[in-house]
Amino acid sequence: MKFSGRNQTEGEVVRGFRLLRGWLDADEQAAILADLRPVLVAAPFQRPVTPGGKPMSVRMTSAGRLGWISDRRGYRYAALHPSGTPWPPIPPRILALWRDVTGLERAPDCCLINHYAAGARMGLHQDRDEGDFSFPVVSISLGAEALFRMGGTERSEGTESRWLHSGDVVVMHGPARLAWHGVDRIRGGSSTLLSDGGRINLTLRVVTSA
Ligand code: SIN
Ligand code: FE2
Repeated sequence: MKFSGRNQTEGEVVRGFRLLRGWLDADEQAAILADLRPVLVAAPFQRPVTPGGKPMSVRMTSAGRLGWISDRRGYRYAALHPSGTPWPPIPPRILALWRDVTGLERAPDCCLINHYAAGARMGLHQDRDEGDFSFPVVSISLGAEALFRMGGTERSEGTESRWLHSGDVVVMHGPARLAWHGVDRIRGGSSTLLSDGGRINLTLRVVTSA
C-alpha cells in the first residue's frame, strides 16, 4: 500500500502513536471548524448510549459514507444518521489533511466527530469496528486540551499519557492501529476556538477494504 505521508518521519512517537504537534495553525483550525458548521446542521450531535444502555459523556456525529454509532444494539458503522438522513460528505479541507498526513489516495470512509464538554471523557478502547486495519487512523484535536492515554494492543499493557492541544494530529498505524487509547480529562476553557470552551476531535478512518 502506498503510505508515504509526512507522518512517517515527523513528530514524537509514544507507544507507536505518532503525535504531530501543531499540525494545524490557528487559521487552519478556524477554517476546519467553519467547514464543520453545515455538517453539524445536517447531522446534529447525538448523545449515544453504550450497548449496556449507559449514556456516553461525549456527543457524537459523523461525516462521510459511513458514520460510527453506538446504541443498545452495539457499536457499528451505519449509512444513515439516527434521524434517518445520509451523513454529509467529509469537507474537502479535512480530506486534504488526510492525504497530506498519510500520503494515501484512498479517502477515509468516516469522519467521526466527537464533542467533549469540560466533564466528558472517553474510556480506554480499541478502534476495531473497521473491516481493514492496514490503514491508519488519523485524529485531529480542536479546542480545549485533552489528556490522551495510550497503551498497547493488550489491555493489560502499561499506558502513557500526553496532553493534546488544538491543532495537534495523532496517527495510529502499524502496531498502534489496534492499541488501546482513551481520553481521561478535558481542560475546559483552555482554548477559545470553540465558543463553549469545549473540544472537538475528528477521527478519520477507512472502514472497508473495497
Ligand atoms: C477516540 O479515540 O475516539 C477519540 C480520541 C480523542 O478524542 O482524542
Ligand atoms: Fe478511538
